[in-house]
Amino acid sequence: MPFYLQRGNIPHKRHTQFRQPDGSLYYEEVIGAEGFSGISSIAYHLHPPTAVARVEKPTPFDIQYVEEPQLIHRHLRGGEVKSAGDWLTGRQYMMGNADVRLALCLPTENMDYFYRNALADELVFVHEGEGELLSPLGTVKFTQGDYVHIPRTITHQWHIAMNKPSRFLVIESYSPIHFPKRYRNQFGQLLEHSPYCERDIRTPEETAPQQEPGNYEVKILKHGQLHSFFYEFHPFDVVGWDGYMYPYAISIHDFEPITGRIHQPPPVHQMFEGHNFVVCSFVPRKFDYHPLSIPAPYNHSNIDSDEVLFYAEGNFMSRKGIERASFTIHPGGLPHGPHPGTVEASIGKEETHELAVMVDTFKPLQITRGAQAVEDKNYIYSWKTTR
Ligand SMILES: [Fe+2]
Repeated sequence: MPFYLQRGNIPHKRHTQFRQPDGSLYYEEVIGAEGFSGISSIAYHLHPPTAVARVEKPTPFDIQYVEEPQLIHRHLRGGEVKSAGDWLTGRQYMMGNADVRLALCLPTENMDYFYRNALADELVFVHEGEGELLSPLGTVKFTQGDYVHIPRTITHQWHIAMNKPSRFLVIESYSPIHFPKRYRNQFGQLLEHSPYCERDIRTPEETAPQQEPGNYEVKILKHGQLHSFFYEFHPFDVVGWDGYMYPYAISIHDFEPITGRIHQPPPVHQMFEGHNFVVCSFVPRKFDYHPLSIPAPYNHSNIDSDEVLFYAEGNFMSRKGIERASFTIHPGGLPHGPHPGTVEASIGKEETHELAVMVDTFKPLQITRGAQAVEDKNYIYSWKTTR
């Protein structure tokens, strides 16, 4: 989505004859979203992308919410979530609603199949680990601190370096994820006041098309089920493509913080948005420089947001008892704010080294049974001023 790209060989005119060295036609595929009104790319395959040899019975793959929603502040010890499975089977959903779902994934093996999420864009924050995202449109290398965005409909495969631990925060969005409109001009270019620019976006590197016929399994997630399709040809047999639909990476460390004389509200940290939610990056930065400034945030009641923070690194100055990889959920309807003592303690501080990802949803979130298993049940009392 970030901007128009071309890779490999494509014909001068779309939807015209484009022939292989043996005289046969390449197989054109328009990969798009929102009917024919959203972004798209046009790819040219060596073989038809439709050649299904076998379909297996789907298997359930869905989120398990707790039965009773509850209005309460929560702290989930994400650091206690155990490693398991691969990039897909290792997903341990923590919370979600009809717009977005959040999972942690600490895979211990690589996938020997291909995967496509047919309903959700996936935005992955790489908390720990490194590797490559392989796709028909090229390879995106990723490392700690990267966000990797895979638009839905893109078949892909994660190759994760297994010689070091991995922890991924997976954000599944049931609407397209994009950069905030206010960061872009009418032509789509990122503006001077945007906290990142096109140079920060790492687009797919060109890879040679895979030619070998075989038996290639693609698992497609839709309707809470994984559908297994076996294809006659490798899904990455693309000789060229162009368009706006492709996976890319951008590092949280390339997000340039916006600071001010007094405390800046969360929208200055915004990096992405989807329908009914935003994703913000809290990065190391200088604190507010008014002579009487209070760097810690004020108490606030944001009735229309459930605020989720994933604590990646450093000490979060307004919170106590929070660990690395913790989540907090502060739902709309309950005021929240800095923990006792942290406001005074923040005065005079000049900078912070905190690193966190925030997901604010405009519809209430529900937690999963897995989240409940790592919940710190005393968190709601952590603002108590008397012992
Ligand atoms: Fe907040």
